[in-house]
Amino acid sequence: MQVLKDLPLIQHPDLLVGTETGDDAGVFRLQDNLALVFTMDFFPPVVDDPYDFGAIAAANALSDVYAMGGKPLLALNIVGFPNSLPKEILGDILKGGYAKAQEASCLIVGGHTVDDEEPKYGMAVVGTVTPGQQVTNAGAKPGDRLVLTKPLGTGVITTAAKQGVASDDVLQGAVDTMATLNQRASEAMMQVGPHACTDITGFGLMGHLEGMVRGSGVGARIHLDKIPVLPGVADLLAKGVAPGGTHRNLSGVEAITQWHSNVSEEDKLLLCDAQTSGGLLIAVAPEKAEQLLAELQARSVEGARVVGEITDGPEPRIEVLP
Ligand code: CO
Ligand code: CO
Ligand code: CO
Repeated sequence: MQVLKDLPLIQHPDLLVGTETGDDAGVFRLQDNLALVFTMDFFPPVVDDPYDFGAIAAANALSDVYAMGGKPLLALNIVGFPNSLPKEILGDILKGGYAKAQEASCLIVGGHTVDDEEPKYGMAVVGTVTPGQQVTNAGAKPGDRLVLTKPLGTGVITTAAKQGVASDDVLQGAVDTMATLNQRASEAMMQVGPHACTDITGFGLMGHLEGMVRGSGVGARIHLDKIPVLPGVADLLAKGVAPGGTHRNLSGVEAITQWHSNVSEEDKLLLCDAQTSGGLLIAVAPEKAEQLLAELQARSVEGARVVGEITDGPEPRIEVLP
């Protein structure tokens, strides 16, 4: 982010992952065999149902620990809530968050609430990882396969729901995928040993891939026909439904992206769709790709696919094939 450039660069012999690589969590070594993973995330409601919103926000906050290959340990609630709304709504948001934290075996040990015109919810999360085993977005190597573990389209669907044009089934599909923890995907990844990983959130697949490509000094190729997509998304895109953030993401990656002439404007928006609590994007050595898919399948991570590969650098460049 632009404003971060003016802040001092934080360095310390035990700081294993700081801000340089653009990762969403810091990793700090406490002992030779123990490091902390520390991250936080919060945002306004993406869906109307308070319990679902709480579950999604918690799954999203926990995700950055999973993307680093860590295990969540403790969390603190971060809450903004208007005095004018019934307190039961806040209670339901928190119940959704607690359910997800429990599923993650992560203890919520407190939190803080401020009066805020628009509700907001999320968590600061502390996790653990073995030093040296943390996964960043900066280790991808040419030839690596790119594996995506959740389908795209949650930004398009939640925007459609706000406009009243998403069917209940289509919305439920998006809620289910957003509320799914990246825990099992992370366990599968750590079983195999990846080169790099990031979770897909607000910058979309292309924006987060750009982060990996820049962090690793490589390029990438994406195969549109391999991309897993939520049901209903293609129809909504054809009707012109896409969030503002998705359009901004597309402008943001244009300079480094080479789109094949058969890739449509809607396809580009799909690949740039701003996700909430999206899947992991894992760069893995080619000879390990099949094993990773098998480990994911064994943990019921449905819909994980090889969607592309890492190419030679040093320029950050992403090629998108139909
Ligand atoms: Co984050
Ligand atoms: Co992240
Ligand atoms: Co306080």
